[in-house]
Amino acid sequence: MNDDQLSMEEIDVLLKAAVAAPSMHNTQPWRFEVNGHVIDVFLDGSRSLPAEDPTGRAMRIAAGAATFNLRCAAASMGYSSWFGLAPDRYDPDLVARIVLAPTDDPDKDLLGLSTQIPRRHTSREPLRPVQLTSEDQVSLSRAAMAEGAELSWLPAPGIKAVLDLLLDTDLREIGDWHRRAERAHWVGGDRTTDGVPSSVLGPRSSSYPSPVRDLGTRPADQTRPSTSFETEPALAVLSTGGDTRADQVAAGIALERVLLTATRDGLKASFLNQPLEFDDLRRTVQQTTGKPGFAQMVIRFGHSTVTATTPRRPVEAVVHPRTEEL
Ligand SMILES: Cc1cc2nc3c(=O)[nH]c(=O)nc-3n(C[C@H](O)[C@H](O)[C@H](O)COP(=O)(O)O)c2cc1C
Repeated sequence: MNDDQLSMEEIDVLLKAAVAAPSMHNTQPWRFEVNGHVIDVFLDGSRSLPAEDPTGRAMRIAAGAATFNLRCAAASMGYSSWFGLAPDRYDPDLVARIVLAPTDDPDKDLLGLSTQIPRRHTSREPLRPVQLTSEDQVSLSRAAMAEGAELSWLPAPGIKAVLDLLLDTDLREIGDWHRRAERAHWVGGDRTTDGVPSSVLGPRSSSYPSPVRDLGTRPADQTRPSTSFETEPALAVLSTGGDTRADQVAAGIALERVLLTATRDGLKASFLNQPLEFDDLRRTVQQTTGKPGFAQMVIRFGHSTVTATTPRRPVEAVVHPRTEEL
């Protein structure tokens, strides 16, 4: 090993932070290559969701979130980091390149957020109280803005419009065997390395439409206990100005900055993304914000004391250090 190379311990810390990022159905659709102080983030096409994410947008968002976690972990280890989003036509799976350099003055915001990485989890529980303070909202909007995205808080009619769209998505999904089979593959049961275990699905909602997506497909999950959820959830739409592959990775970076900020501020989050999986409904969601742009995530925020964790694959399964250079 030499000074031009990250140590195995450093790589372990960096990549444990990266894989803690959220991903649709916890597919963890990423792999990493480390060369000197350069970390490349790739999509792992073997972990795609062809029925529910045919264009790979959700994969790129997940890879962006992992990229942000890497930068936070780097700051916690005394590194500054530069990154580029890399739509490379010769290597379309390469989504981001991060370059680290030792520093006495790491980015304080990234450093502060690094402590939130293990604390952030998707919460599918009823959240209370629904009303967030304007300080909460401004703090989260600024986090999105810092990464070039926009977080639009929906007023009551917008919340109702998004909840109404859930009826449309449910009707479209009823006869779609591909979607249901894909979800059954990734969601439910006991899980040790990937997918969404039954234990984190949260209760079923006693009213319809629910402000939490019910991911359960297996008979045991469909009969789990039900409870009442907030009727007017605090919903915000995360949007980007463009919708290129790089824009979608940037959306993931902004998403993770928002989620870690929310965790720091004592908030929990979950996602109501099903309308975004249909192009026409995705446009309707963006219209509810009253602004131009492309909706990337619908996020529900609130307070809850329940913590539910999902498993991750070990770092060895996702990294390809060029060992000949170590
Ligand atoms: C692009 C994207 C889309 C997601 N869509 C949903 C969704 O529609 N409903 C949901 O309950 N969770 C959704 N999730 C959350 C994942 O299920 C969650 O991140 C994953 O299971 C890992 O769990 P964790 O966030 O607690 O670490 C989404 C996450 C990402 C990154």
